[in-house]
Amino acid sequence: MDKLQVTIVGGSGYVGGELLRLLLFHKGVEVKQVTSERFVGKPISKIHPNLRGISKLTFSSISELENCDTVFLCLPHGNSNKTIQNYASLANQVIDLSADFRINNDALYKVWYGNSRENSEYKNKFVYGIPELHHEEMKTAKFISSAGCNATTVILGLYPFFKENLVEIDRTVSEAKVGTSEGGNSFSEASHHPERSGSIRSYKPVRHRHTAEMIQELSFFGEPQIHFQQLQLK
Ligand SMILES: NC(=O)c1ccc[n+]([C@@H]2O[C@H](COP(=O)([O-])OP(=O)(O)OC[C@H]3O[C@@H](n4cnc5c(N)ncnc54)[C@H](OP(=O)(O)O)[C@@H]3O)[C@@H](O)[C@H]2O)c1
Repeated sequence: MDKLQVTIVGGSGYVGGELLRLLLFHKGVEVKQVTSERFVGKPISKIHPNLRGISKLTFSSISELENCDTVFLCLPHGNSNKTIQNYASLANQVIDLSADFRINNDALYKVWYGNSRENSEYKNKFVYGIPELHHEEMKTAKFISSAGCNATTVILGLYPFFKENLVEIDRTVSEAKVGTSEGGNSFSEASHHPERSGSIRSYKPVRHRHTAEMIQELSFFGEPQIHFQQLQLK
């Protein structure tokens, strides 16, 4: 069987690095290209030392990308909605790991993200990527939007209760504890070890953006009121 030819855009980041680790060991996949504008020409193992001796791939620029079967977008939020057309013509399947196309309602997107997105017509093409909920659609989808990390844990935990109408939908409080990798590899005081070590702090105690995905996926009996709070650990 031919291997699936895969490209990772944004491969120097935390999500791209973890995806590389998984795909390089997948028997049915060949990782064809990995991008980083900062590290063009450098071995991927320079940035991801856990891949030393496993792959000789080097980083490419987005401008050098060739056609492939599946492209994974591991870009910061707000990027893929502007560039989706390029990737749609590059590959048979696009899997976006950012939040750009997770929300299928433009008004809801604007409320939670504060701005409109470009190419919003793509919202109806994307399948929300939690396999436990959308397995059949995901099998044939050209566009998949990988679910938010916090959103996935909360949706999977609450889904059975909401689906079976076992809870009052206007009284749900949920809390997640996360580590520093969640903020990506860009430095900030909030993620710097000496600042962060040994502490726990509340992040976005009201209106965390992943709440929008939770509402979207749990709206069986009207729009639920979900209060989600994220606590950051070292
Ligand atoms: N971290 C998590 O736990 C997590 C979990 C689920 C989903 N996500 C989502 O996944 C996406 C990536 O997150 P991350 O944590 O991996 O971020 P990250 O560590 O900051 O990595 C971002 C990647 O995007 C590239 N990039 C940045 N700006 C770019 C631009 N304008 N054009 C092209 N490439 C650009 C960077 O490459 P160069 O700068 O080297 O070119 C880098 O490879 C985000 O949308 C995030 O919300 C993150």
